[in-house]
Parts: sequence; C-alpha cells; structure tokens
Amino acid sequence: MNLFDTIHIRTIALAPGAALAPMAGATDKAMRRLCERFGANMTVSEMVSARALTMGDRKSPLLMTGGGGSAPFGIQLFGHEPDVMGEAAAMIAGGKYHVPFDFLDINMGCPAPKITGPGAGSSLLRDPKRAEAIVRAVCRAAGDIPVTVKLRIGWDEEHLTGVEVAKRCEDAGAALFTVHGRTRREMYEPGIHADEIAKIKAAVSVPVLANGDVTTAEGALALMRETGCDGVAVGRGAMGNPWLFAQIRAAMCGEEIPAPPTLAERFAVLREHVRAMCDDKGERIAMCEARSHAAWYMRGLHGAAKLRRACCAMTTFLDLEDVIAMAYELQSHQPSDSSSSVIE
Ligand SMILES: Cc1cc2nc3c(=O)[nH]c(=O)nc-3n(C[C@H](O)[C@H](O)[C@H](O)COP(=O)(O)O)c2cc1C
Repeated sequence: MNLFDTIHIRTIALAPGAALAPMAGATDKAMRRLCERFGANMTVSEMVSARALTMGDRKSPLLMTGGGGSAPFGIQLFGHEPDVMGEAAAMIAGGKYHVPFDFLDINMGCPAPKITGPGAGSSLLRDPKRAEAIVRAVCRAAGDIPVTVKLRIGWDEEHLTGVEVAKRCEDAGAALFTVHGRTRREMYEPGIHADEIAKIKAAVSVPVLANGDVTTAEGALALMRETGCDGVAVGRGAMGNPWLFAQIRAAMCGEEIPAPPTLAERFAVLREHVRAMCDDKGERIAMCEARSHAAWYMRGLHGAAKLRRACCAMTTFLDLEDVIAMAYELQSHQPSDSSSSVIE
C-alpha cells in the first residue's frame, strides 16, 4: 500500500486523505462542504430512508443536497427491503431529485433500535443473504453509478459476520467498503477491533476504508498500518475539528503536519460553519442544530462547561458572537498560552 496513491473506485477517485464518515444530525451540507475544503477526500450524506423516498416524503430529499464539490459525494440509503432500496436507488439515479452525486452508499452499521427493529442498518449483519440482495437490487438500479457499503464487523462478538457480509456484497457489486470496527452491541465504545477490520480488508478485493476513533493524523496512519486498509473514514473526530482532514492528508503525503488552529482561526471557521447552516436551513432551525456544533468547537478550551451551556442557549446567529466573546474572555484569564490552543 502506498499512501500517496489515489484510490480508484470504478468511476470515482479518492485522493490521499481521509473520508468524512456520515453522521445523522451532524454531517449536513455545511459540515460536508467545510470538511471537503480542509481536505476530506470523500463525503457521504446523512442516512436517507429508502421507504420515505418511495412514499414521496418531502424532507428526505433535502438530506441529499450538497454534492458537486471537489470530493466525491455519496448518498446513503437505509432500508431492509431489497425492492424498496432498489426503487429508491432508481429514483435517485434517474435524476428525480436533480442533485449532483457520485455514488450510492448502503447503511449496514446504524445500531439505533428504530432502524435495526425492522431489519435495516446493522441488523443486516444478522442476515447476510438479505444484505447481498439489497446490494444487488441497488446496483441493478444504479447502473454505472458505484455502490458502496458501510458496515460494522458484526452484530455481537458471537456473530462476527462482517467478512461474510462484505464478501457477499462484493459479489453483488459493491465497489468499496467502509468498516466501523465495532459490533452493533458495542455501539460507539469502548475501543475498536482493528484485527476484525483487517480480516474484512483481506477478504475482499475492492478498496476498504477503516473507521473508528481516529482523532489525529498519527492515529489515521496507525489504523491504516494495523488494518492494511486503503484509507480511513473519520466521524466524531471531525466534529468541531475540520482541520483534522488537512493534518491527515499532510501525514499521508509525507508533508509537515499543519499546526492546530489558533483561537481566532477556530472561531472564524465556526462562524462560517454556522452561517452556512443558517443559509441552508433558515436561522431558527439552524441555530438549534448549531448548538452542538458550537460546543464541539469549544472542546479543550478553558471554561468549556460554561461555554457548552452558553452554546445550548443560542437561538440567533448573533448569540454566537456572545458565546465567542465569552470564550475569549475565559481564555484571557488563564496564565497559560491558550491563544494557540490545541483541540484535544
Ligand atoms: C451522531 C452520529 C450519527 C451517525 N450517523 C450515521 C449515519 O447516518 N450513517 C452511518 O453509516 N453511520 C453513522 N454514524 C456512524 C459513523 O459514521 C461512524 O461509523 C462512527 O461514529 C465511528 O467512527 P468515529 O469513531 O470516527 O466517529 C453516526 C455516528 C454518530 C456519532
């Protein structure tokens, strides 16, 4: 494996760097565009219900906007019925929503009971044949458009079905896998199982991205070494920290890793991020959602708990300026060099 290599997935190419893992409620258009600017080599929409699309839901298509940027963008579908997944894929691939995108991704990782209950998300790891049938149906509907799969290593430690599911999905036409190195039972902690990701990588011949707990450039390289994977996908580590993508890209290219942002840079990007959310969704909805984003940007600062509370009370874009002013104020009382603070 050469870290300088571009990964080719049928018709899409991933430059060196890390992908932004999809996160419902976080990786909206504003965050994806920002991470892309900092070097994310691929982005994926928040998960979209195939059934909702086929029923004509009007909100779901909004989740699919934001493609057409510099990095390949995938629309992620979830569902448990192969025919419905195929129908939704055909609607998207046929241009019904007029949204630019580069590939379709299938969710086989979500652990939430409302998703796994009917048999979607990580529940597909308990039903490898159904997982295969879904990929087959989506690939058939997608034509030349690449279809990728995001999965976990298994349902629980007694059912480490990731290898079987990945092999079946590859047979059905999957062009890339992103593997979150946990079982469904483990949800999001404790640590990941790099050895299980490595087994999936070894079992298939298409590119595999390793995923789970990457928060530093060094961590990204270590995970690639441990798993033999072609790249990494970053989720929570990117929350409030789009700079991580530039750091990972530099590390992969053997370049000097850029310094962490200064406080002023951090807040300039936070403002830009929240402004973009307001432009996309309107101030009222955006500011509710921006509360958690703003709190993530405050991580590692002095007075973080107080700042988090202030973030949670924001209702207008102007409130963000008050929070930023409070953040500066709280840092100025500290004896240490917090003006060039590192995001921990
Ligand atoms: C709030 C949240 C929402 C998520 N939503 C999705 C989703 O819509 N689709 C998906 O495939 N994974 C989703 N995930 C899983 C992440 O993509 C990723 O696999 C997981 O967080 C582990 O990677 P990390 O340690 O880098 O965060 C979500 C995770 C979080 C924390």
